[in-house]
Amino acid sequence: MLLSAKDPAAIDAAAQRLAEGSLVGMPTETVYGLAADADNATAVHRIFEAKGRPADHPLIVHLAAGSSASGWRHGVDHYARDVPAFAAALMQAFWPGPLTLILPRREGVAAVAAGGQDSVGLRCPAHPVAQALLKAAAARGVNGVAAPSANRFGRVSPTTAAHVAEEFTALAEGDLLILDGGACPVGIESTIVDCTRPHPVLLRPGMLTTAQLEAACGQPVRERDEAAPRASGTLESHYAPRAKVRLMDARQLRAAFQVLGHDAKGIALYARSAMEPARQVPRRRMPDDAAAAARELFAVLRELDATGVRLIWVETPPEGVEWDGVRDRLERAAA
Ligand code: TXA
Ligand code: MG
Repeated sequence: MLLSAKDPAAIDAAAQRLAEGSLVGMPTETVYGLAADADNATAVHRIFEAKGRPADHPLIVHLAAGSSASGWRHGVDHYARDVPAFAAALMQAFWPGPLTLILPRREGVAAVAAGGQDSVGLRCPAHPVAQALLKAAAARGVNGVAAPSANRFGRVSPTTAAHVAEEFTALAEGDLLILDGGACPVGIESTIVDCTRPHPVLLRPGMLTTAQLEAACGQPVRERDEAAPRASGTLESHYAPRAKVRLMDARQLRAAFQVLGHDAKGIALYARSAMEPARQVPRRRMPDDAAAAARELFAVLRELDATGVRLIWVETPPEGVEWDGVRDRLERAAA
């Protein structure tokens, strides 16, 4: 069931469902999430079941922003045992927004959502519909909402309500309520920073650059290492469409099309550089701007995949740090 989030009654209905332990498809500025009350173990189990996600892969808990400048504090205190100063600085700088912080978990709360880890991922999303829903749910006693991306495990994340319905056909034809808040403005998942050790560690790149994070918290943000917590979004193969994704630079792509000539059936193309593949090749032009590319990336992968091709050839993104998030998702889709 798809309901327009423009209708306040739809937000109320969705909040009511969360309070009752049902799942809700929720738009955020990054991607759509499959949401449940983070403190309701039975409801959170339903998320794992619907996604086919292993129970030890932790979910992110989403918090209402509240009405004051650090109105998320109530939620943070409910779930986190300790908030280091650098983590507090990151919250101040980027919340509400596309940033998830991994913090030491308060014992006895949200254990199922946290996949059994002694830490918990917290994020205060900026999307007005997500915030309206979180606020309405909080008014019904929901402290936080666990929500992974609303796709089946290992697949491409959804950036529209229709994508969510596509991922969970049976549930969507049944009684799953999906709030339609339009296309997600960021388009790739939040940046994740581990704050469980004395220094911040980047677990998953997103649209915030390391330089932005470092400027806000006044400390170097390290690359992930062996001791870093596992994160399913950091599995090598993820975000995979049915077709195989292959990354090549412009020269390699041109050479490959030259070899194929008119026999390029079964191949789709997503590239920035001018290219003249055979006419039957489904293609989309990759924007020159990283934010624009991120916004459309998952929708384009779905669209090209839906043409039934065997291979999606993608031009390697440029070097700049602003492309880190897009490059990361493409490398995983290609793995
Ligand atoms: O933008 C986003 O973050 C979206 C929207 C819906 O908010 N959510 C999202 O959730 O991407 P998901 O489940 O697809 O990815 C969450 C990532 C996973 O890689 C998970 O392992 C990691 O966050 N994560 C969550 N809690 C963690 C924890 N306690 N320790 C380590 N990693 C954690
Ligand atoms: Mg995901």
